[in-house]
Amino acid sequence: MNLDHLVACIEQGDAQPAEQLAAFVQQVATGDVTHEEATRWLKAVHQHGCHVEDKIVLTHQMVASGAHLTWPDGPPVVDKHSTGGVGDKMSLMLAPALAACGCRVPMLAGRGLGHTGGTIDKLEAIPGFNCSLTPDEMVEAVEQVGCCIAVQNDAIAPADGVLYALRDVTDTIDSVPLITASIVSKKAAEGLDALVLDVKTGTAAFMQTSEQARELAQSMVETAHGLGIQTTAQITAMSEPIGTHVGNALEVIESIEVLHGEGSPDTRELVVMQGGALLAMTHDDVDEHEGRRRMEQVLDNGRALEKFAAMCVQQGVKPEVVDQLLMAPKDVLGQAAFQTSVLASKSGYVASVDAMAMANLARAHGAGRYNLDDVVDPLVGFVLNVAKGDEVALNQPLLTFHHQKALTDEEHRLLQSLVTCSDEHHEPTTRLLEQIESRPTKP
Ligand code: URA
Repeated sequence: MNLDHLVACIEQGDAQPAEQLAAFVQQVATGDVTHEEATRWLKAVHQHGCHVEDKIVLTHQMVASGAHLTWPDGPPVVDKHSTGGVGDKMSLMLAPALAACGCRVPMLAGRGLGHTGGTIDKLEAIPGFNCSLTPDEMVEAVEQVGCCIAVQNDAIAPADGVLYALRDVTDTIDSVPLITASIVSKKAAEGLDALVLDVKTGTAAFMQTSEQARELAQSMVETAHGLGIQTTAQITAMSEPIGTHVGNALEVIESIEVLHGEGSPDTRELVVMQGGALLAMTHDDVDEHEGRRRMEQVLDNGRALEKFAAMCVQQGVKPEVVDQLLMAPKDVLGQAAFQTSVLASKSGYVASVDAMAMANLARAHGAGRYNLDDVVDPLVGFVLNVAKGDEVALNQPLLTFHHQKALTDEEHRLLQSLVTCSDEHHEPTTRLLEQIESRPTKP
């Protein structure tokens, strides 16, 4: 492997020779490339970008550096990735609902990142839920139940682990090709037939403008396509929080409501939309309309809830705790010491709900982390009574903050400012802004 040549290709805008790039990634995984060498390459890609062929080789080699789940012939193997939002609890419902529709869903997920929540932190709010599954345990769980949700671990794409840690300390995190390979490699290692990507844009998203979101979506779609995975990216709005609950345990409560066929229409719509796209990609006789119908059916007839219960038991929760969780989730999950409500100071219409400010306040009270080893408080978060576009009356409750320590005066003021009301009517948030698709045939 000739690092000078790889870097020169990147700088000149040429594709990198595939064998040399593959050797570089292999040596990253085995520790045969020094941090200085890897950093030179990362900085070059960060500055100049790279060709789609390079992204495919890079991603493929990241997958090859670790365990790769393989599946016997059978139902389609599918998953979703979200770039992260506030109140984004979709995976908790999507995995069991897709399993109820007959798919296999070996979902790898992460912990909260920055202001956004993580699926693993939400599941770990359930007493006994074990997210630390080995690749063999994931396969076993999917064979038994149809789905599992496990935390990303060193067995999967270890080359990404090495490069990600270096990106973190060399200011090279925000690079579309590097984000692409990092995300797609972990999904490809699951042995997927189809993937739906939820790329969020707005004031509470990492990709704040729709141009940035579109660039990342396009890059991930073409790279996943190059690895033989049918992929659809949905670019969705992320300035308003999703659904009615924000915070780890509170989002479990909302997810159970939706799995009962009830709950927030906003949350249900995103689950149905993501699942519908996956069913359409993997079944010749299913279009998105029929895919959505099947998702709605399993949310309404209790099949998705049954799969959720089975997944909880398979992943370590006692059956009697699961029974209670489904019927009276608060009794199992607990409640924060304080609940502070905000009432409307005038009548009118909700103009906005500031997801970013909500997430920052919840994080400051322990719902999220600032350092990797911080322990999250599962009970901290928000319950929303209103969403953008709703009409409100004077003194109507707008939201309740669940917290464990007293609020400062400044935090009280901030809480009052999270929901803005005006005399004008505002349209409710439309989540789906754009869809980008690929339909490759599997090699
Ligand atoms: N999530 C990942 O897994 N990798 C990135 O590079 C960014 C977000």
